[in-house]
Amino acid sequence: MQNTVTEPCTYVIFGATGNLSRLKLMPALYHLEANQRLPEGTMILAIGRRELSQEEWLEQLRTMVVDKARGGLDNEIFTRFSQRMRYIRGDLNEDSVYQNIGKALEEEEVFPRNCAIYMALQPVQFGVVIDKLAEFDMLSEKHGWRRGIIEKPFGYDQDSAHMLETRLHRHLREEQIYRIDHYLGKGTVQNILVFRFANVMMEPLWNRNYIDHVQITHSETLGIGGRGDYYNNSGALRDMIQSHLMQLLTLVAMEPPATMDAESLRDEKVKVLKSIRPIPLGAVHAHAFRAQYASGRIDQKRVPGYLEEEDIPPHSTTETYAALKLYIDNWRWRGVPFFLRTGKRMAETKSAISIRLKQPPQHLFRNTPIEQMKPDWVILGIQPTECLRIEIQVKEPGSNMETRTISLDASLRENDGQSDAYEDLLLDVIQGDQSQFLRFDEVEGAWKVVDPVLQMWATERDYIHTYPAGTWGPQETRRLFEREDQFWRHSLEPDQG
Ligand code: BG6
Repeated sequence: MQNTVTEPCTYVIFGATGNLSRLKLMPALYHLEANQRLPEGTMILAIGRRELSQEEWLEQLRTMVVDKARGGLDNEIFTRFSQRMRYIRGDLNEDSVYQNIGKALEEEEVFPRNCAIYMALQPVQFGVVIDKLAEFDMLSEKHGWRRGIIEKPFGYDQDSAHMLETRLHRHLREEQIYRIDHYLGKGTVQNILVFRFANVMMEPLWNRNYIDHVQITHSETLGIGGRGDYYNNSGALRDMIQSHLMQLLTLVAMEPPATMDAESLRDEKVKVLKSIRPIPLGAVHAHAFRAQYASGRIDQKRVPGYLEEEDIPPHSTTETYAALKLYIDNWRWRGVPFFLRTGKRMAETKSAISIRLKQPPQHLFRNTPIEQMKPDWVILGIQPTECLRIEIQVKEPGSNMETRTISLDASLRENDGQSDAYEDLLLDVIQGDQSQFLRFDEVEGAWKVVDPVLQMWATERDYIHTYPAGTWGPQETRRLFEREDQFWRHSLEPDQG
């Protein structure tokens, strides 16, 4: 959806030279510039740790944008974009950085007084920065609104999430807090709800009577890049599953909301989270699996193992692959396992939801060459391929009673990167639209689910399974399945084997 935003603001980006800024935020802001979606007068205060002159910063900015710019970097657009930028160096624990930001906002008319303050930082720093901003009176809304965008993970576990929440609320009202999960800004993620609730065909099947199990996968060929410091304290379960994959799960599993407004949607998502069966500490191994990448090959090139990456301690047991089996104990889903998995340095970069349907109750074709009926699947490709596919069995042409799987394909398009989730979300903040951001009870509910696993893994520091980079993870992950005929589905294409 194209937003119609007219009110300019100053984006204050903490962590401007960091990974998130490089990979997502600066490219998103550049594309908003290119598509003339930034309100007239919008400015960007980039706050970074490194000592950089304005020129050096703009050089860095160019490198951040050049590879990501759709259709290539346009110099004219980049010049316009650069004119909105001001770099401020600062150590987040020192007063000077806040004084400099405050001075720019107070004294220089070019900076709009409305401020969207983006914490593209390590989670431990969120609270520190908010306290400091409050100390320097930068959160009060005397001359314009002030909104804080908090990146995930929101806390490290349920307790720390509570502490962070209390700390934020000391200085900010709920309307000023934007807890971001960028998956909610992805078009195909929003499409899950359309697929389910705009078509009468799917809903009767969407329950324990017809669905065998659900798989939600996010895999990446990328490793941890330069984020060793953050990642080693986080791991795959916190980094992807507690946030993005749990959000996907709630959208797949929720009941139809009373209306499509933000609160009704969130209410339904929270109900799902509350219905997830808690994992007792003693059952963590039956429900969760973790592993770490060893060196291997990606695109025919050797890549280092996790332990060889920068900033990783030699004996780290942080997981780069995590898989979880969850049950939702409500009328719709009781007994249906939901498998969630994610990994870095996997065989492919892909996010998809694969829903396997049950076998028909009667096996009519037992005495024909169709010995074993293949299961039907519903496939929702999130990225890079956006698709909706329903796989069913049809008879092969000819006189033999043999079947083939075909795919009814309602695909939209190959993701040509027309827009990125962050672009819309950055504009939503200016519009004061919190509907694609998280309410605290969603964050809390998700922590409650993963906390026992985190606790157990934290005590098991001697050993972790490994997998060669460029593969789909260790074989042992199969132990989460309940039957021999269940398996991880890697491909969006029907299996003709
Ligand atoms: C981020 C994680 O939230 O999501 C990263 O911190 C991960 O580790 C990224 O790579 C994936 O997002 P996307 O949009 O590239 O699928």
